[in-house]
Parts: sequence; structure tokens; C-alpha cells
Amino acid sequence: MELSPQLARLLREDLIILEGPALNRPPLIHTPELANLIDHVGCRSAIAQGLKGPNNRPVPVTASYKLANSTERLYMLAHGDSPRLLVGILKMGRKNLFHYDSKGTIHQLQEQHSVLDFYVHESFQRQGVGLTLFQAMLDYEDTSPEMLAYDRPSPKLIVRRCRSHSLSSFSCSDHSCLYAQGFLRKHFHLSDYVPQQNNFVIFNRFFEMRAPPKQSAYDSISSRPLTARNGRKRFQ
Ligand code: ACO
Repeated sequence: MELSPQLARLLREDLIILEGPALNRPPLIHTPELANLIDHVGCRSAIAQGLKGPNNRPVPVTASYKLANSTERLYMLAHGDSPRLLVGILKMGRKNLFHYDSKGTIHQLQEQHSVLDFYVHESFQRQGVGLTLFQAMLDYEDTSPEMLAYDRPSPKLIVRRCRSHSLSSFSCSDHSCLYAQGFLRKHFHLSDYVPQQNNFVIFNRFFEMRAPPKQSAYDSISSRPLTARNGRKRFQ
């Protein structure tokens, strides 16, 4: 997703952290190109996740007008100089959830920290970009992957029960099987969860460790293939 020269000037840092309401204030309110870009990438994300409505139209989770009127936060990762590209987004928000754990106990989770949208451009997938973005989010939010809820996670994000190889376990090791690996299993060893009606996933580990230490065991961002080398910019 190529940035116009004006957007490239605005998004000089590789990591951009955008508080939704900042879109309603200067300087961003004077930059409709940014709203268009968010709408475009939100649409691409919906298509990539197969989120469709009537007439097969994509139903984006991320749209600029909704973001501007929310308390949600959008992480954006840009890359390169000419052209300067937007390579991924990740949206965080808080949700009130009722959630069953593996023992059948129901938990009322208020303002549960949640991953709402996550997308890396197709030409950059499986190169570590998603991990860079996700790790930057964890650092900024001061949290760890098991403490988050995931809204309607796609098979690329989480492992699902493998129908062709292993019906009853998560132990499929066939690399060609889509269900064998998901982003969260590969990078953070997260796989076990209890499916819920509301389509949010919270891993069993969440309920085992409600007051975890800050995530620290993973590689530093700077050692990854695509990194936010130019620091970060926060719009609030
Ligand atoms: N098929 C299966 N697993 C995949 C795929 C794929 N096409 N792409 C990524 N993964 C998983 C695998 O575990 C992969 O490891 P592997 O290549 O060794 O098998 C790992 O992610 C790669 O990690 P990164 O390179 O750091 O991740 P990437 O840059 O590809 O970003 C993301 C991951 C965001 C899931 C990306 O693949 C994507 O945008 N997919 C389409 C949109 C999507 O499904 N987003 C998740 C929505 S769920 C939500 O937002 C709560």
C-alpha cells in the first residue's frame, strides 16, 4: 500500500501509534488521505479474513469513521522510502465479555484488552512483519499475548483443530496443513482455548495466570527482518 508524498511526510517513523480520536483533531483532521488509507487497509484486512456481508461485500473491522469515534488504538507499520509503503496494521480495544473457562466457570471480563484487527500486506506476510508489529504493540501496551482476547481470529492467527490429520488434538505437525500452525502458536506457543458463542478467543493460560509478569523473553524488535528503525510516532 503505497503512501502519497504527503502521507509519507506525515508517517516518517516506521511505527505509528494512532489513538482513534486523534483523527478528529489537527493535524490529522486536515489529512483526509490518512482516513482513506485506513479505510483501504481495513477493507483489505476484511477481504483477507473473509469477513463478508450482503452481496459478498467486505465488512471491515477497521474503518476511519468508527476509529475516530472510539477509544481504540491503531498501530501502523510503514517501510521504505521510495516508494514508502504501509505494510501492516493492528487494532487494539477494550471489550466487556462473558467467557467460559475450561472448567465451565463463567467470567465477567470488563474492558478486556483485545486484539480487534491484524493484517499484513500479502507481499510481506511470513517475513516477520506481523511479529514486529505485534511485539511493538505488546511493548507499548505493557502486556503479554496470553493476557489478550482475540476477536474472531482467523486460521492464520490461531491453530484450530486439524480435521485431516488430528481430530482431537492440536499436535498436527504437517507443515503444509493450514491448521498445523498459527501465528500465536508459532511465536508464543498459544493454542489451547475454549470456543465461545461470542467468537472471542481467550487462551486457557489467561485463566491460569491472571497477574503475569511483563513479556520479556522474546527477541528485541531490532533483530527482526523488518523493524521500526526510525522510532515511533504517536498521534493522540
Ligand atoms: N497460512 C498459515 N499460517 C500463516 C500464514 C498463512 N498464509 N501466514 C502467516 N501465518 C502464521 C504462521 O504461523 C507463520 O509461520 P510460518 O511461516 O513459519 O508457517 C507465521 O504466521 C508468520 O509470522 P509473521 O511472518 O510474523 O506473520 P505475518 O507477517 O505473516 O503476519 C498475519 C501474520 C497478520 C496473521 C498475516 O498472515 C495476515 O495478515 N493474514 C491475513 C489477515 C489475518 O488473517 N489476520 C488475523 C485476523 S484475526 C484478528 O485480527 C483478531
